This record gives sequence, C-alpha cells and structure tokens, in this order.
Amino acid sequence: MNIAIVYDTRTGTTARAAEAMGKTMEELGHQCQVLYIGQAIPAEVSEADLLCVGSWVQGLFIIMQHPTERTMEFIERLGNLTGKKALVFCTYKLAAGSTLSKMAQALEGKGAQVVGQFKYRGPEPNDDFMSFANALT
Ligand SMILES: Cc1cc2nc3c(=O)[nH]c(=O)nc-3n(C[C@H](O)[C@H](O)[C@H](O)COP(=O)(O)O)c2cc1C
Repeated sequence: MNIAIVYDTRTGTTARAAEAMGKTMEELGHQCQVLYIGQAIPAEVSEADLLCVGSWVQGLFIIMQHPTERTMEFIERLGNLTGKKALVFCTYKLAAGSTLSKMAQALEGKGAQVVGQFKYRGPEPNDDFMSFANALT
C-alpha cells in the first residue's frame, strides 16, 4: 500500500510519532512517505492509498482541545478524497478532547473514509496503532 503521513509539530513529539509510524509501515512492506505539513503538497499526498494526518493537541489542557490551525487548513486544501482511506493521530499531554474527531470530520467532509484514530501520550505509537498496522492489507 502507498501511504502518506503528514504531521504538524511544535517541539518534535508528533514528528517522532509520525516517523515511528512510517517505520512500522515500511517494516510491514508498505511504501511510506513521512512529511512535515509545511512541506506536503495536498494534491500529491491525496494520491496515497492511505493518508495519515497528525497534529499535536492545542488547548487549555483539560478543555477546549483542538488540532492546530495549520492542520485544519491543510485538510481544507486537500481535494476530493472520495474512495480514499484516511487515518488521524495526535500527541497530547493530559487530554485530547475532540481533537481527533475534528480532524476526522473534516476529512470525511472531503469524502475520505476515516479508518483509524489514534492518540499518543508522547512520541511512541500505541498498541492500537500496532494492531491496526498489522491488520492492514
Ligand atoms: C500552547 C499549548 C497548548 C497545549 N494544549 C494541550 C491540551 O489542551 N491538552 C493536552 O493534552 N496537551 C496540550 N499541549 C501539549 C502538547 O499537545 C503535547 O506536548 C504534544 O505532544 C506536543 O507535540 P509536538 O512536540 O509535536 O509539538 C499543549 C501544548 C502547548 C504548547
């Protein structure tokens, strides 16, 4: 499968999570591109069979959590994703709130089928992601 992982990061945690996800995908035999959101070209990453979008959680730690503006703007710039699979992920410290569902809804609004939502309390992908990756064909 051809996979694109696009992430926003401020201090590197989400970048490390994205790289680790990419490494796992490659070890499982997939082709994977990991790109900082500022360098990803919407039209190009939309071509992937699975588009993964990641953000760090921004908010007031226990309330008002959301993805970064840059993440939502990027999703807005994606073309029609009808028939495409997407996955969302975020890194956070205390509580992710509705960060993932906001990203998922925006991608669904573009026509994508969101097949996974993962939140990591740090830079390591969790067991849920590992199970998802292992089941991917
Ligand atoms: C301004 C700011 C707001 C944050 N708000 C939240 C929050 O509402 N909930 C939370 O769990 N973590 C919050 N965090 C923590 C980050 O989401 C977390 O440390 C994340 O892993 C950072 O990712 P990065 O290293 O890729 O930038 C906040 C961090 C900053 C700098």
